[in-house]
Amino acid sequence: MSTITILGATGQVGSQTVNNLLGKGHNLRLIARHADKLQQFADKKGVEVHAGDSFNSDFLASVMKGSDVAMLMIPTNLLAENTAAYQDEIGKAQIEAIRKSGIKKVLFLSSVGGHTEEHTGIVAGLARQEIRLKKLEGVDVLILRPTYFMENFLGNISMIKNMHINGSAMSADKQFPLIATRDIAKVIAEKLDQLDWEGKSTLPLLGARDYSMNEVTRVLGESIDQPALSYVQFPYQQAKEAMVQWGISESVAQAFTEMSEGINLGYFNTEIRDSSSTTPTTIEDFAKTFAHVYHLN
Ligand SMILES: NC(=O)c1ccc[n+]([C@@H]2O[C@H](COP(=O)([O-])OP(=O)(O)OC[C@H]3O[C@@H](n4cnc5c(N)ncnc54)[C@H](OP(=O)(O)O)[C@@H]3O)[C@@H](O)[C@H]2O)c1
Repeated sequence: MSTITILGATGQVGSQTVNNLLGKGHNLRLIARHADKLQQFADKKGVEVHAGDSFNSDFLASVMKGSDVAMLMIPTNLLAENTAAYQDEIGKAQIEAIRKSGIKKVLFLSSVGGHTEEHTGIVAGLARQEIRLKKLEGVDVLILRPTYFMENFLGNISMIKNMHINGSAMSADKQFPLIATRDIAKVIAEKLDQLDWEGKSTLPLLGARDYSMNEVTRVLGESIDQPALSYVQFPYQQAKEAMVQWGISESVAQAFTEMSEGINLGYFNTEIRDSSSTTPTTIEDFAKTFAHVYHLN
């Protein structure tokens, strides 16, 4: 039995990780800012909920103190005026909290592209955090590098409904790995259960296989009875302007656009696919969730 701190416990990856760990006899200390969202776990056996901000290193350290392990992440702030400064500040607060709490094991949810700041856009901030974590002495750090989430396509539903296309700044034909968040959460829960890493290590998570946006669009289109749905690659500037119109800050829109460009140029396709990085859920499996959400809206 371990005491496990989970930052971002109400998010897509965090909440599924918690659900996978419930009932295994661990003490779970769950962190997010909004207390109302944490309530879903508050009455579960072995769970403590802690509402607070990861910018506050004293708060984080007080929750982490005495834990066997902490799962940390740098949540995306779509409104950040300066996304790099936001990521560095929250990242440094987490490093400070690791030091203050004396915790000896950390699992960091990074991303493919986390090996470099070059052409990785929003992921560059995760790459800088990887470097900070690797410098910590006496702390075992496991860095997970999952690829692009299939759930990101749920954000395209209104475009499909209103414009009758699927589109983004990513190339139509270039194949790229895609993963379902349930597969990430399963691996994280297994790692937090087993605590079997020492020193500094990295584990890429690449989904079942690589897909092009044309393939994704065909599968998702068929799932909603639109087999002729087409994919359109938007010019980078147009993609950025559309994000700003949706209310995303200029800085974050720029960082997402740089990430898409980096994906198109191959900067994210550097991890090795093998049995440990391949996970089960295919885009055809995910399409069932996609169709369900499509018809709910
Ligand atoms: N999307 C992708 O394709 C992709 C690919 C690879 C890696 N990733 C990485 O995976 C991470 C997790 O993704 P996700 O989809 O699970 O995130 P998510 O659903 O947005 O969840 C974020 C979680 O963090 C909490 N949170 C946000 N800001 C916080 C703060 N300042 N202090 C404390 N808690 C805070 C949120 O709850 P509150 O709002 O209540 O605080 C929520 O529980 C991303 O941030 C990214 O770094 C994403």
